[in-house]
Amino acid sequence: MTKEIAGLEEKIAKLKKKRDAIILAHNYQLPEVQDVADFRGDSLELSRIAAKVENKVIVFCGVYFMAETASILSPEKLVIMPDIQAGCPMANMLNAEELKKLKKEHPNAVVVGYVNTSAEVKAELDYCCTSTNAVTVVNALKDKEEIIFVPDKYLGDYVSKKTGRKLITWNGFCPTHIKILPEDVKREKKFHPFAKVIVHPECLPQVVGLADAALSTSQMSKFAKESEATEFIVGTEIGLIYRLKKDNPNKEFYPASERAVCPNMKRTTQEKILWALEELKEEVKVSDEIRLKAKKAIDRMLEII
Ligand code: 13P
Ligand code: SF4
Repeated sequence: MTKEIAGLEEKIAKLKKKRDAIILAHNYQLPEVQDVADFRGDSLELSRIAAKVENKVIVFCGVYFMAETASILSPEKLVIMPDIQAGCPMANMLNAEELKKLKKEHPNAVVVGYVNTSAEVKAELDYCCTSTNAVTVVNALKDKEEIIFVPDKYLGDYVSKKTGRKLITWNGFCPTHIKILPEDVKREKKFHPFAKVIVHPECLPQVVGLADAALSTSQMSKFAKESEATEFIVGTEIGLIYRLKKDNPNKEFYPASERAVCPNMKRTTQEKILWALEELKEEVKVSDEIRLKAKKAIDRMLEII
C-alpha cells in the first residue's frame, strides 16, 4: 500500500469516528471502497444493517435506490452518498405513473417489486423483494390469483420458473448482467471443466439455464465458502470477484465475462468517501408521505423471510 493510500484510509477512519458514521458498501464496489467499509453485503443485508446500527451517519457506497432504502428504514439517521449520481438504470426503467397504469390494467393483482426501484415505485407495491428472497415472497402469495412482478423481466422469468407461477412482468432488465452471454459461460466451462457455475438471477434465462445455482451476490459468497468445489465461474458484476477471492484465498474465481461492469457501482472512491464525511453530503432523503407507503412494502417482505 502506498503512503498516500494509507494516509487516505487513516483520515477516513478518524473522521468516521468523529462523525459517528458507518460505511456500508455493496459487493460490487471497487476494492478500495470495500477495504474501508465496515460492512459489505447484498441489497438485503445492507438495508438490514442500516436499520440496525446505532450510528448517526450512514455513508452508503452503492447505487441510489440502496441508499434510499436505508433512509426509508432509518429516517432518523443521516444517509449520505459519496457520489449521488450513482443510479441504477434498471430502477430507472419503471416510474410510479407507469406502475399505476399497469395496476389499473390488472386491478385484482397483488404487486411485488424488486428492491431495485425508486421510493415512489416502492410506495405503489404490496411487497418488496430482493434477489435473495424473490422466490420465497412469491411462494408466500399462494392464495393470490394474479401477481404483477416488476421491473426485472429476467428475475421475473427466474421466479416464475422456480415457483410455477405465471407473473405479469415489466420490460426492465440490468444492462450489465445482460452482457454475460451463454457462449461466455460455455467458453469458461471448457477452460475450467471442474468449476461450479454461479450466476445472478438478473442474467439472461439462457445463462441461468447453464448455471449450477442462481444466487444473490452474498449468497454466492456463502455458496463459495461452503462448497467443496475449489473453482467457480461467476456470472455477475465483476466487483464481486474481489470479495470472493479475499474471503476464499484458497479457491479460484473466474468471471464469466469481463464485460459485466456496472459503471454506476464504480463511481464511488476513497477520496469521495472522505469528502462525504468532511461535508456530510450528499444526503438521501424521502418525503414522509412516500416513505411510509414504501416502508409498508419492505416491512411485508421482512415479515415473510
Ligand atoms: P444483490 O442484492 O444480489 O446484491 O443485487 C443487487 C444488484 O443490483 C444486482 O445487480
Ligand atoms: Fe442496477 Fe445492474 Fe448496476 Fe445492479 S448491476 S445496480 S441492477 S445496473
